[in-house]
Amino acid sequence: MTADTARWAWALLACTAWLGLLVLPLRQQWRTWRNTRTLPAEAPLLIAYASQSGFGAQLAEDLARTLAAHGCPAQARPLQRIRAEDLAAAERMLFIASTTGAGDAPDNAGAFVTRVMQGTRRLQRLQYGLLALGDSSYAGFCRFGRELDAWLRAAGATPAFARVEADGGNAAALASWGQAVARFTGCSPDTAATASATQRWALAQRSVLNPGSPGAPIHRIVLQPLDPAPHWQAGDIARIHVPGQPAAWRDYTLASLPHEREVQLLVREARRADGQRGLGSGWLGHGLAIGGEVRVQIRRNSGFHGPDAATPLVLVGNGTGLAGLAVHLKERESAQQASQIIGPAWLLFGERTRRCDALCDGALQAWLASGVLQRLDRAFSRDADAPARYVQELLGLHGALLRDWLARGAAIYVCGQRDGMAQGVDAALRALLGDAALAQLAADGRYRRDVY
Ligand SMILES: Cc1cc2nc3c(=O)[nH]c(=O)nc-3n(C[C@H](O)[C@H](O)[C@H](O)COP(=O)(O)O)c2cc1C
Repeated sequence: MTADTARWAWALLACTAWLGLLVLPLRQQWRTWRNTRTLPAEAPLLIAYASQSGFGAQLAEDLARTLAAHGCPAQARPLQRIRAEDLAAAERMLFIASTTGAGDAPDNAGAFVTRVMQGTRRLQRLQYGLLALGDSSYAGFCRFGRELDAWLRAAGATPAFARVEADGGNAAALASWGQAVARFTGCSPDTAATASATQRWALAQRSVLNPGSPGAPIHRIVLQPLDPAPHWQAGDIARIHVPGQPAAWRDYTLASLPHEREVQLLVREARRADGQRGLGSGWLGHGLAIGGEVRVQIRRNSGFHGPDAATPLVLVGNGTGLAGLAVHLKERESAQQASQIIGPAWLLFGERTRRCDALCDGALQAWLASGVLQRLDRAFSRDADAPARYVQELLGLHGALLRDWLARGAAIYVCGQRDGMAQGVDAALRALLGDAALAQLAADGRYRRDVY
């Protein structure tokens, strides 16, 4: 009995010591955590961005990095991931807000506009700076940035400096934003707001992918580097400098990956109301000579980056949108070649005629054969011998299968024409899944669009 009691006493002592060893570091961690939580100076400065084609997102991410490098912890976050509680808790914030469509908020503002901006808020503690990105050739110039600014003021927040509006990425406006941010934060990252570096490329090849099509010609443009090329990934955008009076920048989704050592673009020839060729597409499709120099900025477009290679992928688009869809298949092909497990991919694509517009058919058939692509459905709207069908109708037609893919965790990526195609696809998805489920997919990053 005595021996037993002693054994018990020793066991109890050992357990207490062991628990003590376990609890001590936990207590220390708890203290550190509590301290960091109660010290507002430690909380990173939030830079909320609303961006459709990635320019605003890149400015926000670059700014966060530069501020952090200057000792001011900062974090860039899409506006839809800012909750009412984040606003209420913050004392200082930065906003970068682009406008898209016809004066609309970008997709990644989504839930913020519908949930947070609809309610009344008391944001008296909050001081903020706001950069609105837009293009004055649109009637609703910087409309979303202005609306967000007005809403913040109405909610009681105080602008630390007057809203900066950058027309077409105007360098002087971006510089003045950088200076205002430097004063506001006490850091001096006045270079943080400048756009990304420009490289020189040369036109190596040009071909028309859809000769004979009832639609406008689609040019495949191939550029080779004259300068060291930066890194990029599927979903990123090439900003092309179009020389002339006035010079302009035009954005195209990259159809190639860095290991190909070339920039590939699909460019649809645009016609203006007066019959003249569009500025960017006219120059790339006709004006620029083979060997001619092109200045390019590669812009990160994190909103259209792919999920991890194992996630099932549903790609939907039309016309030149194939550029932004096929590049994701290229990324999967690389992953497959690197012996990674890749998830299934399903491409739904729409164009005018089967005979002239089954774009990049060779590559698609090869991907079907190698398992990069598991399923291909195409819709043609102008075939004489078949009913006219648009890509959005394919979604309804294969509704049960789409639900099945989503149940297996698939992400939906849409690329191409905004009016008509992307709106139609959005409506078809709403009809199939319901508004709430689609909003949830978007909030989870499983419904992404690169539309123009
Ligand atoms: C399809 C489309 C629609 C646009 N609509 C507007 C608009 O209504 N008002 C405006 O000020 N700018 C408009 N813009 C210009 C963008 O706001 C501008 O290019 C901005 O720099 C894009 O930033 P982001 O890449 O962050 O989306 C539009 C651009 C595109 C491509």
